[in-house]
Amino acid sequence: MALGYSEIYNAWKTDPENFWGDVASGIDWFSKWDKVFEPDSGAYGRWYTGATCNTCYNCVDRHVQAGRGDQAAIIYDSPITGVKSTLTYSELLVEVQALAAVLKSKGVGKGDRVILYLPMVAEAAISMLACARIGAVHSVVFGGFAATELATRIDDATPKFIISASCGIEPGRIVAYKPLLDEAIEIATHKPDATLILQRKQQDCDLIEGRDFDYETLMQAARTAGDEVLCEPLLATDPLYILYTSGTTGAPKGVVRDNGGHMVALKWSMKAIYDIDPGEVYWAASDVGWVVGHSYIVYAPLLHGCTTIVFEGKPVGTPDAGTFWRVISEHKVAALFTAPTAFRAIKKEDPTGELIKNYDMSSFRTLFLAGERADPDTLKWAEDKLKVPVIDHWWQTETGWTIAGNPMGLGMLPIKHGSPTVPMPGYDVQVLSDEGEPIKAGELGNIVVKLPMPPGCFPTLWNAEARFQETYMAEFPGYYKTADAGFIDEDGYLFIMARTDDIINVAGHRLSTGGMEEVIAGHQDVAECAVVGIADALKGQAPCGFAVLNSGVDRDISEIKKEIVSLVREKIGPVAAFKLVYVVNRLPKTRSGKILRGTMQKIADGEAWKMPATIDDPAILDEIAEVLAE
Ligand code: COA
Ligand code: AMP
Repeated sequence: MALGYSEIYNAWKTDPENFWGDVASGIDWFSKWDKVFEPDSGAYGRWYTGATCNTCYNCVDRHVQAGRGDQAAIIYDSPITGVKSTLTYSELLVEVQALAAVLKSKGVGKGDRVILYLPMVAEAAISMLACARIGAVHSVVFGGFAATELATRIDDATPKFIISASCGIEPGRIVAYKPLLDEAIEIATHKPDATLILQRKQQDCDLIEGRDFDYETLMQAARTAGDEVLCEPLLATDPLYILYTSGTTGAPKGVVRDNGGHMVALKWSMKAIYDIDPGEVYWAASDVGWVVGHSYIVYAPLLHGCTTIVFEGKPVGTPDAGTFWRVISEHKVAALFTAPTAFRAIKKEDPTGELIKNYDMSSFRTLFLAGERADPDTLKWAEDKLKVPVIDHWWQTETGWTIAGNPMGLGMLPIKHGSPTVPMPGYDVQVLSDEGEPIKAGELGNIVVKLPMPPGCFPTLWNAEARFQETYMAEFPGYYKTADAGFIDEDGYLFIMARTDDIINVAGHRLSTGGMEEVIAGHQDVAECAVVGIADALKGQAPCGFAVLNSGVDRDISEIKKEIVSLVREKIGPVAAFKLVYVVNRLPKTRSGKILRGTMQKIADGEAWKMPATIDDPAILDEIAEVLAE
């Protein structure tokens, strides 16, 4: 009989190196490691040191060699443009090889960074794989970010090359990417050598002579030339990508992912966690700009020889709340992974789930949710309407794969609504008090992971080792600080309740309130400000700003509010979903001057709150409540 979760978790705990050594046989290596784990390397040790491998080889070439060439690798389904197309593994190899040749012809090689600023098109996955093939380090920037955010990433990653598109398409509007890209390059201190632009027929763009190149023209030439571009042998510990994620301040953190450990963990997760076999269709309805897109639209399904879906649409409105069911039935999807917010949106439009009945859902076995807390109401609705297990799992950009989940391939554990279930092998999850002491079952505390982190997790932050140490390793020595608060119950089930830092989760998107505050503080009339995440029925949380104006400002307040809202959209991007701002006379603070954001959030949400003992002037909280009630 196959081993269940407890046996596997214990096998890992008893001998982690043996466990990860065995699991690594799922990957084709060019040369084996010196050590499965080298504790003296990196911040907490490194996995598979000395081994050589290539992620693109494992995602593409080896499947073609093994006879999967005619199987669909990527299905592009775009209800927003009305286009559907399929790339088999053999066709994907041709495309990836052609793009790798184009990159090489532009002087891009091993270790060079390439920024990808692309909508949800198959070319996004092809670009990631082409970089991986030649050992270039990609950094995908989500399309909903504004030019300044892109510029920050350009300056941090210092890319040699950028791949982008003329436009993205959002319901009811075309988002012209090229002007954003041009502006970002203009603002950034670092300048890329060249760019490759995918012209989309919904809206094309002008190319700057000598700097911008047309994707299709160069690709066509490379396809015709048909040059073989071999997969560069890379160290398992070499970086595969950098993905920027929100930190407490406006400066995003460049999470680094390596090649070897990442492949091992993701490949293992496909069967053990998602219970998917090679050849099946797996769909992560997210965006390649997020970690879910990296791990589960591109890398994991392809490492496992599955068919993945690149979906350019929304759960509702493209054209209706039945789109997900149409995609599942049409492409015979076995598992869907998305954020709970997508289900809240569907439930709002189609509360009785009528549209599900229009589709043959017989291929569909499991729904996986992550990215934000899965509220029990949404979970129950999905279970009730879809009649399949609905599995919450918890992870972060930093880890790249599940910290806690319900491993469907090892035998489903009983579900407790509100809990992402149990730690996966590799993660010794503990709950500590602020003083670093272990906490009793059922009590709320800081969730930490005992070091070392398992394969696949980030070894550092790009160009920011000190920030990495300070943010994640310093507060609880010997542990990785997840910055999530929660508890473990008497059955060992984990409950993730809130962030312990200034990060909020809006529609499954991780955003920094500190970053928004930096932008608002830049408004000419604002003296100081605070942003908190308030409860939102659709998006889980929504940002809410409080601004104190400079004395003497006598302009129309509604005008100032509008300007603040536009400023955040312009500087951070529409993804910030910043729509609500209050002008207040003063901000509540502790006697040491710390703004009481938590208390403001509770007042805004109508939750019970206690007067903080250290508050400087209690009357300010009444003022805030009055403004909110207006
Ligand atoms: N390029 C440009 N703009 C984008 C964008 C992109 N790739 N993605 C989102 N935006 C824009 C949206 O158009 C919207 O603009 P608006 O203020 O003009 O309406 C804004 O950013 C906010 O987007 P979002 O928070 O996604 O809200 P929404 O109302 O457009 O959609 C959901 C809400 C729930 C339907 C959507 O967030 C969703 O499908 N989420 C679930 C899946 C997911 O992406 N999860 C994330 C990680 S798993
Ligand atoms: P990201 O790095 O964008 O994936 O966001 C990670 C954060 O999202 C976590 O630290 C949590 O705060 C939150 N999160 C992700 N998945 C879950 C989940 N299943 N339950 C609760 N919170 C989650």
